Amino acid sequence: MSLITTNIDEAVAVLERGGILGMPTETVYGLAALVHQSEAVGRVFSVKGRPTTHPLIVHLSPEADPTLWGEFNNQALALAEHFWPGPLTLLVPRTALVPDWVTGGRNTVALRVPAHPVTQELLLRLRDGVVAPSANRFGRVSPTDAIHVAADLGSDVDLILDGGPCAIGVESTIVECIGDSVTVLRPGGISLADIQRVVTGAKSSQDGESRASGMLASHYAPLTKVLLVDSEATARSRASELAAQGMSSTIINHASSVDYALHLYADLREADASGVDRIIAVLPSPEGLGDAVRDRLLKAAA
Ligand code: TXA
Ligand code: MG
Repeated sequence: MSLITTNIDEAVAVLERGGILGMPTETVYGLAALVHQSEAVGRVFSVKGRPTTHPLIVHLSPEADPTLWGEFNNQALALAEHFWPGPLTLLVPRTALVPDWVTGGRNTVALRVPAHPVTQELLLRLRDGVVAPSANRFGRVSPTDAIHVAADLGSDVDLILDGGPCAIGVESTIVECIGDSVTVLRPGGISLADIQRVVTGAKSSQDGESRASGMLASHYAPLTKVLLVDSEATARSRASELAAQGMSSTIINHASSVDYALHLYADLREADASGVDRIIAVLPSPEGLGDAVRDRLLKAAA
C-alpha cells in the first residue's frame, strides 16, 4: 500500500484498526485518530511532538449529534447552525462521552464539523469522532496538501488520504461558548465580523491567556527567518538592503486575503525549500481572512 491514497475504504480501515491517518479538510490537513482509540490518540501527540496539555479538536460528521459530545447553549447552537459544516471550532463544556486523553483533563471540548466532501464521507463511515490536530510537527507550518504531510511526517503516519489542496488554507476559527460570553480564541477561516453577525457581543481574545496552542507567541514557523512589513514597497526596499549585505530574500504578498490564506503555508514551505536567507512578508489588512493571516504571520515571525 502506498503512503498517499484517494481510497476512502483504506482510510476507514486504518482508523478502525487503531492507526493514524493524514486527513484532508477544507482548512489544513489533520493527523487523525479515532477519539476512543487511546493508543492511536497517544501516537498523534507523540508523532507531532505535541505536549498532552494541548488538547485536540474532535471532528464530527454532519449526520452526528454534536450534543452527545458537548453542551450547547443558545449562542453555540446558533453558531453551529450557521457555520457548520465549515471552518468553525466550538469550545464548549464536554459530556461524559469525551475521554480525558482528548481534552488533557479539561472540562471543555473543541468540536468541528468539516465541510470537505472527502472528510465528510470518511466521517460518515466511522462510528466514532475523529481527533485531528494539524498534521505538522509541533510549532511548524501546517500542511495544505497531501504531499506536505508526507514531507513532514513520512512513514510516522500509517496512511495519507489525499483530498487535494485545501480550499481555505488557514485553520478553523476557535470560538469559546461558555456561560454568557462568546470569545474568539484563534482567528481563522471565519472572520470575527461574520461571527458577530450571528452572535452580537462576540469578542476577540488574542491578548488573553494562552489557552490554545495556536495562541503561543511562536507557532506556524518556517525554518527561515521571517520579517514583517506593511507594504510591497517597503518589502522591496528591505530586499535591496538585504541584498546589499549579501543576503537573499523572497517576498510573500497576495492581492486578496482569500488568496493570501490559500497560499500562505505553501509559500512559507517553498521559501524554506529554496534556501533563501530571509522571508519578507507583507501583512494584509485585518478584514475577513486577513485577521487569520496576520495572526499566523506574527507567530511565524516571533
Ligand atoms: O482547521 C483546524 O482547526 C485544523 C483541522 C485539521 O481541523 N485543526 C487544528 O488543530 O488546527 P490544532 O490541534 O492544530 O489546533 C487546535 C487548537 C489547539 O490550539 C488546542 O490547544 C485548542 O485548539 N484546543 C483544543 N481543545 C481545547 C480545549 N478543550 N480547551 C482549550 N483549547 C483547546
Ligand atoms: Mg496546529
